[in-house]
Amino acid sequence: MEGKRQPDMEIVIEDLDYVYNPGTPLEVQALRNISFDIPSGTILGILGAAASGKTTLLKILNGLLTPTAGRVLMAGRDIRTFKAGLRRKVGLVFQQPERQVFEKTVFRDISFVLKLFSDLPDAIIQERVRQASDLVGLDIETLAERSPWTLSKGEMRLTAIAGVLANQPEVLILDEPTVGLGPESVTKLVTLIRRMKTHKRQTVILVSHNMDPFLSDVDKILVLHQGCLAAHGTPAEVCNIIGNDPNMRLLLPEIALLIHDLQKQGIPVPADNYSIPVLARTLVALMNRENRNT
Ligand SMILES: Nc1ncnc2c1ncn2[C@@H]1O[C@H](COP(=O)(O)OP(=O)(O)O)[C@@H](O)[C@H]1O
Ligand SMILES: [Mg+2]
Repeated sequence: MEGKRQPDMEIVIEDLDYVYNPGTPLEVQALRNISFDIPSGTILGILGAAASGKTTLLKILNGLLTPTAGRVLMAGRDIRTFKAGLRRKVGLVFQQPERQVFEKTVFRDISFVLKLFSDLPDAIIQERVRQASDLVGLDIETLAERSPWTLSKGEMRLTAIAGVLANQPEVLILDEPTVGLGPESVTKLVTLIRRMKTHKRQTVILVSHNMDPFLSDVDKILVLHQGCLAAHGTPAEVCNIIGNDPNMRLLLPEIALLIHDLQKQGIPVPADNYSIPVLARTLVALMNRENRNT
């Protein structure tokens, strides 16, 4: 049925290990003993230094890689039993997906996978392409017949994301979606995540070095460190876990760290509001109160 969504797509990750090239001199243990849950509708941000295992984890979640040990359950079922259907439930947008743009027109690019794997009538495909384009903030009316190669880098990336959204995945995974994009495209991505959260209640897993713009919409953050889970919780909880470690704290969004550090010094700023104007107003109000009392 069109638009049908499973009521509970909770993802459970149990004791996950992943080893590349096991038993060879090129062996790399990319993930070690990772366990956590992602309730459906969660916006999860993943942080970690380069080579900490972020992309490997995403590829396991969408079935591109099979765990060396442990398992991933989706709606209570081991994802190994989902076969090819899994990839359409879990839409993964790779790092720099614009490198995979290859169709002649923007419309054909966005509808490519949908056409390949479904026998939906053209009218439904057109509607899906329009909805997906709206979600990412692309004006499909003017862009439909353009060659993807004539688009800006930001438009190309949004086209690639729309192509994944057109399949109406249960879970959307974005690997470093903001890298190399200007502020306008980043704003479109922030709007997309917000729509996913408020209208669709869709699970989104987002890897980004630049988590600040998404922080108000992120429910949980997971921090990977050399393949191990270093912290998992709300942004405030994660700051409490690793915010005092001089190296690990560099991974955290600056506004969350600033709030954490202010609180540590006894300044009563609210923990869960990551808006700079709100923080500024709170600090001014506190200073004014201080001045009146002296
Ligand atoms: N195809 C591969 N073959 C061998 N090692 C790999 C491969 N892909 C990634 N690795 C290694 O696995 C580790 C984790 O990589 P990756 O998951 O890409 O990290 P991240 O996305 O956090 O930068 C790194 O040490 C990386 O070199
Ligand atoms: Mg990566």
